[in-house]
Amino acid sequence: MDRTTTGPADHGPVLVLGGTTDGRELATLLVAAGIPVTSSLAGRVTQPNLPPGGVRIGGFGGTTGLIDFLRSHAITAVVDATHPFAEHITAHAALACDHTGTPLLRLARPSWSTRAQAATWHWADGLTEARIVAEGLGSRIFLAIGRQDLHRFASWEHRYVLTRVITAPESALPESWEVISARGPFRCDDEQDLMRSRNIQVLVTKDSGGPTTAKLDAATALNIPVVIVRRPALPAGLATVSSPREAFSWAARIRGNTRR
Ligand SMILES: NC(=O)c1ccc[n+]([C@@H]2O[C@H](COP(=O)([O-])OP(=O)(O)OC[C@H]3O[C@@H](n4cnc5c(N)ncnc54)[C@H](OP(=O)(O)O)[C@@H]3O)[C@@H](O)[C@H]2O)c1
Repeated sequence: MDRTTTGPADHGPVLVLGGTTDGRELATLLVAAGIPVTSSLAGRVTQPNLPPGGVRIGGFGGTTGLIDFLRSHAITAVVDATHPFAEHITAHAALACDHTGTPLLRLARPSWSTRAQAATWHWADGLTEARIVAEGLGSRIFLAIGRQDLHRFASWEHRYVLTRVITAPESALPESWEVISARGPFRCDDEQDLMRSRNIQVLVTKDSGGPTTAKLDAATALNIPVVIVRRPALPAGLATVSSPREAFSWAARIRGNTRR
């Protein structure tokens, strides 16, 4: 089903499922154009960088809760701008929009798989495979996968693991791990200094995509093997764009506001 063309002809806000820089940029474009927008954040980060326009925080209560929200707020269209690895909310959005006939677009940064160095990386289908592959490559690991999945690597309790988070992890991490709190973007030189100073032997990351490739460039420059997790598959028939500007044009068209 083409989820981008169907939908109720009402004039409620555009719902941006966010938690990403792209989601924030899209909300900024919509607000600047006078298009009502509500951004939805999961509420994982304690001090989120809030987008302009309306904001709601917290889960909807699964697909059923999202269906209720779409109806009760007369949502005109949904842009799923969540992180490429936020697969549950993406699946819920596809089901809820199918059910309500709400136009849906996926906004996700271009994958890193087309970059020149990508062929030299170790591609893994999921975090478990990434863990196993990394174990064979070295014992001092830079685990750059965000905060939420760190527990999946708990068996590395006797290794040196460097990890970097924006918000402190909820549960305790092994004593052999070093946790740095920082919010990107980061510079390649600084990433090289960081990896060199910790004698990092392997970088483990996700194919989050986007322009911020400093850690990948630094690992390549230092000849450090990269283990990278492939993106989960998208729901069938989901139209996708890779820039906030494209998503804005789509939403403006749906709102019948094609002047901008
Ligand atoms: N996964 C990552 O690597 C990653 C990295 C950076 C940022 N993020 C951001 O962090 C958030 C959570 O990621 P996740 O991987 O935990 O997602 P997930 O596994 O797909 O979602 C788990 C549950 O969290 C709620 N949720 C997720 N995103 C939401 C949103 N934007 N608004 C309202 N509820 C939301 C939903 O709860 P209900 O079922 O109750 O509706 C969803 O079922 C996302 O917004 C994502 O963009 C994720």
